[in-house]
Amino acid sequence: MPPTDPPRMLEVKSMEESAYKIKLFNPLAEYKRYEGEIASSVAKTLQSGRYILGEQVALFEEELARYLGVEHVVAVASGTDALTLSLAACGVGPGDEVVTSPFTFIATASAILRLGAVPVFADISLDDFNLDPASVEGCLGERTRAILPVHLFGCPAPMREILEVAERHDLVVVEDAAQALGAEIMGQRVGNLGTAAAFSFYPTKVLGGYGDGGAVSTNHAEVAKVARMLRNHGAAERNLYLTLGYNSRLDELQAAALRVKLKHVEEMIEERRAIAAAYDRVIAGGPVEATRQPQGARHVYSLYTVMCEKRDSLKDFLGAAGVECGVYYPRPLYRNALFEKAPFRKGDCSRAETACGEVLSLPLYPALTESEVAYVREKLLDWIKALERGREPIAESRQAGGPR
Ligand SMILES: Cc1ncc(COP(=O)(O)O)c(C=O)c1O
Repeated sequence: MPPTDPPRMLEVKSMEESAYKIKLFNPLAEYKRYEGEIASSVAKTLQSGRYILGEQVALFEEELARYLGVEHVVAVASGTDALTLSLAACGVGPGDEVVTSPFTFIATASAILRLGAVPVFADISLDDFNLDPASVEGCLGERTRAILPVHLFGCPAPMREILEVAERHDLVVVEDAAQALGAEIMGQRVGNLGTAAAFSFYPTKVLGGYGDGGAVSTNHAEVAKVARMLRNHGAAERNLYLTLGYNSRLDELQAAALRVKLKHVEEMIEERRAIAAAYDRVIAGGPVEATRQPQGARHVYSLYTVMCEKRDSLKDFLGAAGVECGVYYPRPLYRNALFEKAPFRKGDCSRAETACGEVLSLPLYPALTESEVAYVREKLLDWIKALERGREPIAESRQAGGPR
């Protein structure tokens, strides 16, 4: 076979992307809404002359802790680091097993591996794509130290049942709340329920920054103290290093922007929920299934993900109409080449396998306009109706699609 030509491949990809009239994510549109406030906060921070661990990070930690209702927040350089530091601060180390979901972003498992620990993959529920507590219990072993539930797509995991399993077996629970800032269950915001939790401020997240960023939240002073030390080279104070740490500090500039976004996060979440409800209404009872969130939970829809047996047909049809969709996630984590060498264990993950073949995420972000939402709904309905008439829907030409 001739070698692949990378520059040409890149060119084709960018042409395809520009054909979408409605993007899956649009961090720029979100930025534009708060541009004045963000620019002024960032400019003031630039003028302050303090760019690392200054006032902005300290204030952001206080404000985020208040928003989440937790005692401590430690701002770090990414959601991946927030997971690694949370697990480490909770005592997870080499040889320990951590039970988690195989249907998530790779960072959930790589944070475990990074500490020399071993991910153990349990199955998910197809109602909400989150860990199934019974499967978690079936996967426990002698070396199990922690459970790492992921609040996937912004839908809180069944924490009551997971905490009960943890209690019965004396395990630590660390929440992967990277996608779920503002989500609620058991009357509390996520980030409050486990021993520690990790958040991500990747630009497309519910609270998106303008680069990488993350945070550890906890109600345990000792966990916060260790996470704080680990993010800054293991230093207890200046020039006093107690342990091997990381350089994982959130920048002042990111904190300055995130403080502005945090003030508006509730309005952005309500917009996400309203768009999700509009999509729910159009697909109710048809061949496309929406997430069934747990009773009393608040889903924040960092992604609006449906299940559909004819997923690829739906994706092609919407794509040709100018609506960008995404597959999160196309394979369970253990099917990545990484795990040909990396250690892991798994239970029966057949529901995770099914999800990988059938999920599709539709455009959803706060700055999506009413006419764009109406257009996506219309195209969804066109596809559903064609299918119901017994005709496989045909994707139109790319050029035709999109609202004005
Ligand atoms: C479920 C989950 N966990 C962890 C992460 C890692 O966050 P970051 O990209 O900020 O390192 C992400 C981010 O994409 C995520 O979606």
